[in-house]
Amino acid sequence: MSEETTKKRPHDVPTPAAFAELMKSGWIPTPLEGLKPTPPLKYCVTRREALSKAFPGVRLIIPAGNYKVRSNDSDYAYRPHSAFAYYTGVQGVEATADSVLVMQPNSSGHDAILYIHPRSTRDTDAFFRDAKYGELWVGRRFTLAEAKDRYQIETRRVIDLKDLLGDGTTTIAIHEQDAEIDKLVTKHDRDAELLTFVSEARLIKDQYEIDELQAACDASELGFQEIVKAMPAAVAHPRGERVIEAAFFTKARTEGNDVGYTTIAAGGAHACVLHWIRNDGAIKDGELVLVDAGVEMDSFYTADITRTLPVSGKFSPAQRALYMLVYEAQLAGFAAVKPGATFRSVNIAAQRVLAQGLFDMGVLPCSVEESMGPDMGLHRRWTLHGVSHMLGMDVHDCQHARQEAYLDGVLAEGMVLTVEPGLYIQPDDELFPAEYRGIGIRIEDDVVVTKDGCRNLSEALPRHPDEVEAWMAKHAQ
Ligand code: GLY
Ligand code: MN
Ligand code: MN
Repeated sequence: MSEETTKKRPHDVPTPAAFAELMKSGWIPTPLEGLKPTPPLKYCVTRREALSKAFPGVRLIIPAGNYKVRSNDSDYAYRPHSAFAYYTGVQGVEATADSVLVMQPNSSGHDAILYIHPRSTRDTDAFFRDAKYGELWVGRRFTLAEAKDRYQIETRRVIDLKDLLGDGTTTIAIHEQDAEIDKLVTKHDRDAELLTFVSEARLIKDQYEIDELQAACDASELGFQEIVKAMPAAVAHPRGERVIEAAFFTKARTEGNDVGYTTIAAGGAHACVLHWIRNDGAIKDGELVLVDAGVEMDSFYTADITRTLPVSGKFSPAQRALYMLVYEAQLAGFAAVKPGATFRSVNIAAQRVLAQGLFDMGVLPCSVEESMGPDMGLHRRWTLHGVSHMLGMDVHDCQHARQEAYLDGVLAEGMVLTVEPGLYIQPDDELFPAEYRGIGIRIEDDVVVTKDGCRNLSEALPRHPDEVEAWMAKHAQ
């Protein structure tokens, strides 16, 4: 690694030669001792074999992606593209911007080659001058040899990638992640095929992925405990939703890599705004707070969990009545998850319970069957969203899978999905009795499809209102 990554900035001044010389000398060698292969290594090998088989003779380019600018010269914390992490096994903070995985065709399949910015060693200017990549500024990266030990594949400098290209080999790539790749690699008709393949490959999770998703759920449970502990502080602060968001974030950063998506902390009627991420409202005694949050582990697998908690620790009768309806809908959703069932059947099972409940309350202006028909869906005024999506490294995982493999597809053992029914009564909804207005409830869990049903990875967090109340009392300070 060297000066190549050292970009000139307006305030840069030339480095006096004597200073540069002093900086580059007098350092004790510091090789990394005891570096272990990445934990998912054997799975990465299998995943790359499947990828190789799907694209014989074609060069594949999977970039980790560049830094993303937050403002001016401040970037967001770096997070690699999920497909890159899936095929290389990079973990947490060791992922570095601009890396590229190349699957280079050979006579029997592909060679995997990892292109990286290697360590800015002490003999370079970059280590002390480069604020984006230099070791004195942002910490140490792997040398080429260390990265090879860690990922067990050939490693090269990313600045040498252009030497590989241009030999006429058909090359397809994931684009719009890395500006340099977009410049070097012309778009190809088959690019979309690659994106689809790497998305569908993640539909069925291997054991490593399931274990990591379990760990993400367990860490998230700790985050929800922190929320209960912080409830009095949240009530006392005018922006109590931020107190709740921050309480969860503490566990996301200490137990995991980060949150897997922006936390929704929605007090009272804010719960009726589906993506309430402003989180600047108050938390009031007597109201509910809906929290949708998940810890992302260093492996980049994330939980996606929602609990709707009574701020006082006890549900009111109206809150409990609506909550029980969502609870029953979720049970129907869980029961629908099994191998061979269609993905859509989970949504239908949960929505039917919600529609029936709305009918029984006298608010649904048609029969349940009519409402469940494709041309009506009147219950959706209060249910607003589907109840499931795939979960993995991305909170909405496998997003580029073909419709027939996912939305119109069939569940199979090893898939991980959410079951997350909700009911949202807007504060100005005159179709509902006043006592229910402004109540929004969602219960969201993460399940893995098993041989004959499903297992709830987030079951450590209670869902039944009695159990929620007991759990809150236990963790309140
Ligand atoms: N947290 C986003 C979702 O539940 O889909
Ligand atoms: Mn979800
Ligand atoms: Mn969610």
